[in-house]
Amino acid sequence: MTHARQHPIQVVAHRGASEEAPEHTLAAYKKAIEAGADALECDVRLTADGHLVCVHDRRVNRTSNGRGAVSALELADLAALDFGSWKNGDEAPDWEHRPEDREDTSVLTLERLLELVADAGRRVELAIETKHPTRWAGQVEERLLFLLKRFGLDAPESPADSQVRVMSFSARSLHRVRAASPTLPTVYLNQFLSPRLRDGRLPMGVGIAGPSIRIVRSHPAYVERLKRAGHRVHVWTVNEPEDVGLCVELGIDAIITNRPGAVLRQLGR
Ligand code: G3P
Ligand code: CA
Repeated sequence: MTHARQHPIQVVAHRGASEEAPEHTLAAYKKAIEAGADALECDVRLTADGHLVCVHDRRVNRTSNGRGAVSALELADLAALDFGSWKNGDEAPDWEHRPEDREDTSVLTLERLLELVADAGRRVELAIETKHPTRWAGQVEERLLFLLKRFGLDAPESPADSQVRVMSFSARSLHRVRAASPTLPTVYLNQFLSPRLRDGRLPMGVGIAGPSIRIVRSHPAYVERLKRAGHRVHVWTVNEPEDVGLCVELGIDAIITNRPGAVLRQLGR
């Protein structure tokens, strides 16, 4: 069944245009904005000296020429690393890291990403994922809200007006965000459909569900239940054209993808 849609489906660049450029770099986010993405997704972690940086893994080994846990490194240590060269070659044939583009492939702080969004020249939304925040007992959320406040993004009039949303697999992290900023929208991510979630309920106060595309493919009726319960549905990570088609058919509100340009073209935008 095709569902009536109140808003156009949002295209969210997952870790930036991360198929074309190294994930979580300024280069990947610039490409996503150029491609016309409606929103940018990023994962945030705290460094040893309390900065929020955009890095997916616990360690920097996969996406840089360094080694070690983000939480054990200071921002200056991370700034000395190259987060771009690993993508050279077969990973992304059109991508080539040039030494003169150093800022584009340095570690990206959330603060710098917020500046990029502020300077985009059009409305670009941000979907910020707190990664394993329980270890830090509130410090990730505290720093996140501090930065959002600096950019005037921490207290939207209503969730619908917000340029930023906070996502997490941790209900506790989302609870901390809502306690500090009740109008900031939150997205509860889930990779598996546990019995607790099957009836379409989300953790208290969370308005947006973030199921994986695998859940959506195998349990389309779950999407129906979420929508009937009045929730929005943001799905990750949707890269295949047939999955984009399925999301459109099911009335999904946002597609989180590594290929924002290709998805926008498929949607005729
Ligand atoms: O957008 C949600 C998605 O990013 C969650 O998975 O592992 O890519 O952070 P992961
Ligand atoms: Ca993520």
